[in-house]
Amino acid sequence: MCGIVGCILNNKKAAPVLLGCVKRLEYRGYDSVGIATPTHKIQIKKDQGKIVDVDKNLKLADLPGTMGIAHVRWATHGLPTKENAHPHTDCENKIAVVHNGIIENYKTLKEQLEDEGHVFKSETDTEVIPHLIEKYMDAGEDLENATRHALTDLKGSYAIAVMSKNEPDKIIGARKESPLIVGKNENEYFVASDVPAILEYTNKIIYLNDYEMAILGENGVLIKDIDGNLIEREIEVIEWTPDMAEKGGYDHFMIKEIHEQPEAVKNTLLEASEIKKVVQKLPGFSRICFVACGTSYHASLTGKYLFESRLGIPTDVVLASEFGYSSRTLNEETLVILITQSGETADTLKALRIANKKAKTLAIVNVLGSTATRESDYVIYTRAGPEIGVAATKTYVSQLTCIYLLLIYLSGRHELLDILQKIPDHMVSALEKENKIRDIAKKYKNTPDFFFIGRGFSYPTAMEGALKLKEITYIHGEGYPAGELKHGPLALLDEGVPVVAVAPPGKSHDKTFGNVEEVKARGAQVIALGSRSDEILKSEAHEMIEFEDEIDEMFSPIPYIIPLQLLAYHISVEKGIDPDKPKNLAKCVTVE
Ligand code: F6R
Repeated sequence: MCGIVGCILNNKKAAPVLLGCVKRLEYRGYDSVGIATPTHKIQIKKDQGKIVDVDKNLKLADLPGTMGIAHVRWATHGLPTKENAHPHTDCENKIAVVHNGIIENYKTLKEQLEDEGHVFKSETDTEVIPHLIEKYMDAGEDLENATRHALTDLKGSYAIAVMSKNEPDKIIGARKESPLIVGKNENEYFVASDVPAILEYTNKIIYLNDYEMAILGENGVLIKDIDGNLIEREIEVIEWTPDMAEKGGYDHFMIKEIHEQPEAVKNTLLEASEIKKVVQKLPGFSRICFVACGTSYHASLTGKYLFESRLGIPTDVVLASEFGYSSRTLNEETLVILITQSGETADTLKALRIANKKAKTLAIVNVLGSTATRESDYVIYTRAGPEIGVAATKTYVSQLTCIYLLLIYLSGRHELLDILQKIPDHMVSALEKENKIRDIAKKYKNTPDFFFIGRGFSYPTAMEGALKLKEITYIHGEGYPAGELKHGPLALLDEGVPVVAVAPPGKSHDKTFGNVEEVKARGAQVIALGSRSDEILKSEAHEMIEFEDEIDEMFSPIPYIIPLQLLAYHISVEKGIDPDKPKNLAKCVTVE
């Protein structure tokens, strides 16, 4: 949830670099920011608020020194205040720590440390870490060993970066269940919670595993296990350019990422041969179980419709947070497919660990080297590139593309590849509707409720459209199977309520059209998504977003989601909300 970074530079001030890095991490958490650098003492500037405001007041980049650590916070323990902002220190201000994760036993540890005379300054779980390190350094251990010792006392999850004024040439990084990477340049070293933070400075990355530590300092970078044994780890060269992680001329990351979608799908299609290889390696299975959260869950739901209707394989879809309550029916005949953009979502990782005990697991992941990729039996990468906007967009269409590719290789229906290859062109056409959608957004921006309806393949599209609207416009949006309206929600339909009807040509079309008439009869404003030649739908709808006739319902989920993403984006902008940073949400949810 929080973002952390640390660096040791060669004859260059660290604070301006750290500031640049945390700006790029802002999507991980943005209620507080702080930087610490060690010279003859540890100097810290930190406060609650957005980076730009805190920097204006405190001049973060003015801190002296060629190394340091920094943090952006998304509060879990303790309100967003200056005291609770990271870095946190020990009693004597000789050790500073930034942390992402949750220390579950912090209350017990805090009580013990307070009994031993330690004085705490914040309400955070994190602060126990510098005090534990202080305790062990006071007992004679060096920074590395004291950190290692402290980690063995912790229960919960952590990615940390630690430094001490007593060893002011060293940064220690460590992780357990929260991501941490190491970056290397000639004589310059970085730790960070993820790649975009440091991409401007290096693309040579080492991924840490759980219970591993990185010691950055005069010996370069050493990777060790929790017992202190050296580990050989390959450096991976990341092909993302810093530009890919920037806004690229758009007002927001979200709209940039919406426009990157045709490219993202093309990149995913380049993975076809890798996906084919994975399919060839899969053991036999008679049942599929998708597990995911949020947008990734909606991609999974599309997978269910595809695999059951086109493969004839019984397919369940389970929300990751519910998986632990329903996993008993798994067996070696089940393939569990976990879909996760970040590969770090705590609910999904927990489900993965349960599934691993009973079935074979396949993860569809965007972030290379993330925990899900390391803990699953098989991995497919979506290759959508870094997604910074909190609302998932391009990773959703890439996840869907992976599901189509899986279907093609599992079913042997290679002719479907030709149709899939044409999807990016249809996406470009959908993006060309942006002006029209902006007008619709202006018209409906003040409405308190929206409904999104669809049947079959269009039901997950409706759900995803409603989720996008909710998260970035704060408008109440309900995604419903169109046929379910009459079983209750129809009571909510008043005069003028917008109903977005997803009605591509195909098996579900006529019934969805019936629902359009049903809601219109009750005064709803119908915004329809359908085929260009669908004159009857056009005649009923108040607004119509048209698509090429050849996109049938089976392949509609990718192009048809685009207008719904654009609608949510433009309503958000019209309402003066920052769509990249919706309130109460963070990009990667690393707590259950
Ligand atoms: C919505 C959104 C979230 C994520 C969910 C799962 O726009 O982004 O609903 O889809 O938190 O995240 P991943 O896919 O990283 O596991």
